[in-house]
Amino acid sequence: MAPNRVVVNLDRTKGNINRNIYGHFAEHLGRCIYEGIWVGEDSDIPNTKGIRNDVLEALKNLNIPVLRWPGGCFADEYHWKDGIGPREGRKRMINTHWGGVVENNHFGTHEFLMLCEMLGCEPYINGNVGSGTVQEMQEWVEYMTFEGESPMSNLRAANGRENPWKVNFFGVGNENWGCGGNMRPEYYADLYRRYQTYVRNYGSNRIFRIACGANVDDFRWTETLMKEAARYMDGLTLHYYTVPETWEKKGSSTDFTETDWFVTLRKALFMDELVTKHKTIMDKYDPNKRISLIVDEWGTWYDVEPGTNPGFLYQQNTMRDALVAAVSLHIFHDHSDRVRMTNIAQTVNVLQSVVLTEGAKMALTPTYHVYEMFKVHHDADALDVFHQPASYSLGGESIAQTSVSASRGKDGKLNISLCNLSHDEAAVTSIELRGVGGDALGSVNGTLLRSSALSAHNTVEKPETVKPEPLTGLVLDADGKLNLNLPPASVVVLTIE
Ligand code: AHR
Repeated sequence: MAPNRVVVNLDRTKGNINRNIYGHFAEHLGRCIYEGIWVGEDSDIPNTKGIRNDVLEALKNLNIPVLRWPGGCFADEYHWKDGIGPREGRKRMINTHWGGVVENNHFGTHEFLMLCEMLGCEPYINGNVGSGTVQEMQEWVEYMTFEGESPMSNLRAANGRENPWKVNFFGVGNENWGCGGNMRPEYYADLYRRYQTYVRNYGSNRIFRIACGANVDDFRWTETLMKEAARYMDGLTLHYYTVPETWEKKGSSTDFTETDWFVTLRKALFMDELVTKHKTIMDKYDPNKRISLIVDEWGTWYDVEPGTNPGFLYQQNTMRDALVAAVSLHIFHDHSDRVRMTNIAQTVNVLQSVVLTEGAKMALTPTYHVYEMFKVHHDADALDVFHQPASYSLGGESIAQTSVSASRGKDGKLNISLCNLSHDEAAVTSIELRGVGGDALGSVNGTLLRSSALSAHNTVEKPETVKPEPLTGLVLDADGKLNLNLPPASVVVLTIE
């Protein structure tokens, strides 16, 4: 196989990698919020004000920049006033979308914004257009952000929070082409214009208004929203999930073939084409790129783990997921001129999670480790990379064997992340650093994520089956050249002082 060639032009930056590309999404779905994050103050599971400590620490370590809540489909059925005030008095409702279970509303606005404060991240609140009123949305924003005397700020103070919160990101509906009301784009565009009018900036709080965008390749949706409502929005969303087979039979998260591996990665790479096409439409109406494309739901979606509630979307997570995460993040870096936030679905116990829990125990997934290794890219300057990948072929189809991204952090360090997508062949890779003499470059440190088997995964009983390890023996020569053999199915991050 021909080697993979990577040339990093250290003197050519492509723009900033917005840290919000590393955002997350937590919905009232299955065991994401309840058990995964919120256990309540009286729980035997160690917690801080009801938030479980182990998950909190794990998420803090990722420097999560932004967290989206309360849905997803749940958002367009959520009535925020049900989730405020003394918990014992909060309305019990049915979570009709997700498993038909009782939602006791114990995790509401105060608890979510407290979680964001604990994580040091920005809240991204998704409002209800599908079944909520304009007044309800207006009052939610007033409740959270109004500083002076008003009915909603008085109510907030009566519920124990005198000072308003800062809420920057606000979504006006979710999947309004589907679970959020089955609307046509023309109808939603008009509703969006109306609802967002009342999503007000109070005091110094400035809201970044996010309109519901397209499902996968529904380019007419993007075109219509940009044509009819661009001037009223700061962001437009896109949802795309990597489903190995079909929506009816998606495939197992752990019991998969080499072909499933290949197809999953090929489908994950489709994100690049999708983003490119949606961006092209946005460029037509917004050539100065004022409006962000926000991929606020993405990741792998498999059949649920056998024996679990089909409405809970609980799935395991292997090196295949780590590779999907890494190549997707690279794609988002490449489009960082327009893609300024993404939110992988979903943080704990749902779809492509970073953390899994069982009762009081917790495991970090391979996807978690990618997010930890890639922290170096947060807010870094993306560097220009010439990439000539070898080809990875299976069943008559081919994709690139490697994926790469490079950035220079605020600390001046150079970071290069690389993936070998091949399930069985090492990626012989030459890296050349141009633009600075090799002798001006310091030592190279590397971290490697790989596993003995493609389907290896972490469980609460065996939480360290897949974990990062140091990559040693890296030698950067005086000409700034480095040769590397990436093991099959692996992710590597190199940092050069
Ligand atoms: O993430 C799970 C669901 O997928 C979300 O609730 C919905 O927005 C999407 O269809």
